[in-house]
Amino acid sequence: MKRPPVWLMRQAGRVLPRYRKLRETYSFRELMETPQLAADVTLMPVEDLKVDAAIIFSDILTVPEALGMEIEWTDHGPKFLTPLSEQKNPSEKLKFDGGKFQHVYKALDIVAEKKNVPLIGFCGAPLTTLCYMLQGVSSKQNFPEAKKFFYQNPLETEKLLDLVTEVSIEYALQQVKHGIDVFQIFESNAGILPEDFYKEKILPRVKRIAEKVRSKGVPVIFFPKGIGTGLNMITYEVCDFAGIDWQTSIFQARKMIDKQVGLQGNFDPHLLFANQEIIAKEVEKYKPFFEENPNWIANLGHGVLAETPLENVKFFIEKIKEF
Ligand code: CP3
Repeated sequence: MKRPPVWLMRQAGRVLPRYRKLRETYSFRELMETPQLAADVTLMPVEDLKVDAAIIFSDILTVPEALGMEIEWTDHGPKFLTPLSEQKNPSEKLKFDGGKFQHVYKALDIVAEKKNVPLIGFCGAPLTTLCYMLQGVSSKQNFPEAKKFFYQNPLETEKLLDLVTEVSIEYALQQVKHGIDVFQIFESNAGILPEDFYKEKILPRVKRIAEKVRSKGVPVIFFPKGIGTGLNMITYEVCDFAGIDWQTSIFQARKMIDKQVGLQGNFDPHLLFANQEIIAKEVEKYKPFFEENPNWIANLGHGVLAETPLENVKFFIEKIKEF
């Protein structure tokens, strides 16, 4: 391909008028759990934004649900009825039910049949998933209750991380069976831990998930948001592509990460609120990067924001396609 491929994290849910319209009729849970609706929403950004890939319309919190946790999807996002940090020996209360993933697999089957672009499957990385399980949703971004739990209950933390990792592997391998072409591991909370803690306790588990998926011939994108200088831990042993967050210079990231690993990212989601002249100028800055680094997937450095003007999202995608 002569130009970089482009897709956007959270491309399905937030900005599309057709999605918003559907949400007037259906709750988020109904959209996610009705395979035909989830498949339709998955393909909307391909049709309406002309992105080069589809990402299955689901959520990283399907894993806690499959472990028996109850989540309410409110207008402000997910709410856990009983966060684990409030319980004694929480790992004993979790019980995996693979049947809870069936609607995702059915949606994947429908998309796999219809699609004409690569289909991305995903899960949360064990740290990010466990943060939500322990604390519920954090009004503060840095999950202080989850962190306290990690330091106060190291053995229980290991058990929980193993459990989430094993379920994520099962989930990922089933997604492969149901037709995904690429798998992304979302580590939105990579930045909440010291780098050495991350390297010792979390990264090996991310690697385990990635290895299993890659052994089936499906490439893995790992998005460790906020990892900072920890980018130097990302070798080709970990993943095929690293998602770079919007805080980091992609030129610096390129120097820190194993050359064999491609990069994805990393425009600031807020850039798409600027006028189009400014957007065009920012996109232009990535041309010399792409010329030297053809293994680049254009994307934002985190999810597209809900209030983003649709015409700017489309403009951004067109500009990338002019490369
Ligand atoms: O990218 C896509 O469009 C595919 C679908 C997708 C969703 N969530 C749908 C969704 C993906 C890839 C996710 C990942 C996800 N979910 C992450 C990791 C990425 C990131 O943004 O950091 C996280 C942390 C979650 C958990 C989650 N889901 C939260 C905290 C919230 C509420 C706030 C928000 O972001 O809207 C959600 C809700 C959610 N997940 C929506 C969608 C479309 C909004 C639901 C609605 O329509 O009201």
